[in-house]
Amino acid sequence: MTTKEPMFFIQLTDIHISAPGKKPLFGLEMSDKLRAACAEIRTLEAKPSFVVISGDLTHDGNLEDYRFLKKLIDEQVELLGIPIHVALGNHDFREPFREGYLEEEPSNESYYYSFMADRLRIVMLNTQVPGTHGGRLDDVQLAWLKQVLAEPAPLGTIIVHHHPVVKTPTVMMDDHLLENPQDLASVIEGTDVIGLLSGHIHYHNVGMFNGILCAAADGLAFGLDPSASTNMRFIDRSGYNLITVKDGRMIVQPMTLSGEQRLLYELNVSKIHAEV
Ligand SMILES: [Fe+2]
Ligand SMILES: [Fe+2]
Repeated sequence: MTTKEPMFFIQLTDIHISAPGKKPLFGLEMSDKLRAACAEIRTLEAKPSFVVISGDLTHDGNLEDYRFLKKLIDEQVELLGIPIHVALGNHDFREPFREGYLEEEPSNESYYYSFMADRLRIVMLNTQVPGTHGGRLDDVQLAWLKQVLAEPAPLGTIIVHHHPVVKTPTVMMDDHLLENPQDLASVIEGTDVIGLLSGHIHYHNVGMFNGILCAAADGLAFGLDPSASTNMRFIDRSGYNLITVKDGRMIVQPMTLSGEQRLLYELNVSKIHAEV
């Protein structure tokens, strides 16, 4: 599994978009953050092949949010000149997503798929559990994944999913990881999967999972303080990942956009279970 030409793409996550006219979360305009990230991406010398967004596409998940998101993403696809592929997170809702973003009949059907980019395979999973903030992969999706991975792709496979599997620095945030990582591990064992990309925890967190490199990217809408162990500390910070596939390996450059990095809000999680 080697190639002379690296494959290069972008991972954004947790963009938490709201339709115009709503009171902005923390007083921040998240659509401006998405536009700023895409503007920065356009200044890179190398042009990425595509963008993936690993969930929490909207903050409230209403129909008008997804209609606005569709306009925003279409605008950025036009400016970037490359496709943007999305996955769902715990802040997303399937029915309004299907109606407002995919512009199809609303349904509660889970949203997962795979696509080829040159000779690299990308699998976009759906870890959201409707009605909760937790993350889990159900048996139907795991069976589908097993079938997809049965045939290797020339440059391997990268899986994109919202809830991460790699432990975080604190017990507080470990509560937000995928609930059944062992089920995912058993499906990807011995396959061509070279990396997992996720979000949800709103800070860069890179580690190994069963010998596979995993990267959770910083939130684009806002960040969390990765050192906080008792309170969730929301920070005006935005980041994303540059992803390169070279010589059969996934390489990750965590990026941080310029910003104030000021503390926006502090949440005592012993009183309220966090909503990230
Ligand atoms: Fe989020
Ligand atoms: Fe999330």
